[in-house]
Amino acid sequence: MSKLISLPSWHNLKRLQQEMNSHTLVDLFRNDPERATRYGMKLDDLTFDFSRTHLNDEIWGQLVKLAEERHLSEKRAHMFRGNRVNNTEGRAALHTALRTKKDDPIEVDGEDVLPILRAAQKKMARFVADVREGRWLGATGKPIRTVVNIGIGGSDLGPRLVVSALRQFSDGPEVRFVANVDATDILGALKGLNPETTLFVIVSKTFTTQETLLNGRTAREWLVSALGKEAVAKHFVAVSANLEKVLAFGIEETNIFPMWDWIGGRYSLWSAVGLSIALAVGWERFKEMLAGASAMDEHFFWAPLHKNIPVTMALLGIWYRNFWDMRALAIIPYDERLRELPRFLQQLTMESNGKSISETGYPLSYPTAPVVFGECGSVAQHSFHQWLHQGTDVILTHFIGIVGDDWDKPQHHKVLLTNLKAQAEALRRGREEPEAPYKANPGNKPSCLVWLERLTPYNLGMLLALYEHMTFVQGVIWDINSFDQFGVELGKKLAAEMEI
Ligand code: F6P
Repeated sequence: MSKLISLPSWHNLKRLQQEMNSHTLVDLFRNDPERATRYGMKLDDLTFDFSRTHLNDEIWGQLVKLAEERHLSEKRAHMFRGNRVNNTEGRAALHTALRTKKDDPIEVDGEDVLPILRAAQKKMARFVADVREGRWLGATGKPIRTVVNIGIGGSDLGPRLVVSALRQFSDGPEVRFVANVDATDILGALKGLNPETTLFVIVSKTFTTQETLLNGRTAREWLVSALGKEAVAKHFVAVSANLEKVLAFGIEETNIFPMWDWIGGRYSLWSAVGLSIALAVGWERFKEMLAGASAMDEHFFWAPLHKNIPVTMALLGIWYRNFWDMRALAIIPYDERLRELPRFLQQLTMESNGKSISETGYPLSYPTAPVVFGECGSVAQHSFHQWLHQGTDVILTHFIGIVGDDWDKPQHHKVLLTNLKAQAEALRRGREEPEAPYKANPGNKPSCLVWLERLTPYNLGMLLALYEHMTFVQGVIWDINSFDQFGVELGKKLAAEMEI
């Protein structure tokens, strides 16, 4: 395949950037009053407004051409079909299969994975109902009141985000999360808990992750010292692809929920890795979340590239990262329930695309994943927004807002959303202060707005799948395998050697 930087569209985009550089976002809106509606897309209750970016139809056309020249449609089909798109590890990446409603076979090594994952979902649904309806009893005959999810990275960040985001739908046991090997984390999570009513969910695809295993052992000691060894079977379940290691840890086979090597850790919240989510909100709502993700999958698969939300979001990221020297992507959700979103997206995008070697093993000569960071608006406004408004770097900001007021506090909601809109406008418009330049806002700073009508399981599923596909598209453009993470191995190895 031709090198990215020698593609015709790449050259055209370089030229177009120089032309666009002499225009501001204010000019663009002045010359094109329809811009706000033209540069917007909608899928169900999700709206993507990308009008506040340095885009015109010619640039957009070339960005889409870039995606075509990188054979995006073909590569997308490969991923959905179960091809080994994770070429370095020889694995498929089938998170989309976890949420498909179709029954068409999806084969890995000649075996249809759908029956396997539907059986796993059945097992999950039964277990979730048993725990939530009080049929699953602890060793002393008491129902479960608290779930402690022990995992790290993809075995933590997704479930943690969703449980927090769907808190209004939580009507099951309280769910706590432990990720850090710092004892502060597990001791804090165990504080005030009654071992008789506590269930531990140990989540680790490999079941070799040092932090998770140590936290799991500490949890088991805590339980055993209160209730004895026999209690483990009623208080510990695991989610893993490594049956042998889980059994060696002392968790019974019936208490193990499967994972597979064709699901990447950071793409796994839709599998049994999301067990804690389903325990918190129930199986029906978990399924609604899968349905939302599936709707985004269908859109991503079928919509033409120029009407495709994940593709557009990804191409805008490429436009700024590779042609405007963008250093960071700021994720600012104007909703406390989405507080964990920036952390989740850090792993998703930076572990997937933070790479400097191409899929075929050559050094890359262009920047790939930018820094992703973020915080809830309006808190962020009183912290790092100064840097967004007057700093020297090009930053693309994603503002995420929930249109409806779920708390019946209209005044709060109005102030919240007004601030979101005001920030996007301040970044775009800027303000001149000829007498006091230190007060001036240069403006002309790009942002995209993602609106959800309500923060429901379905809409959240759409939002998270949107970012998954954005990440995939960017990996395709950059010629990266987005599904391995070899960079993290050396540190693990050194830590293991130093321990001895
Ligand atoms: O160290 C990185 C990583 O491998 C992530 O990719 C993964 O999500 C995390 O560790 C946890 O891995 P596991 O689920 O195997 O414990």
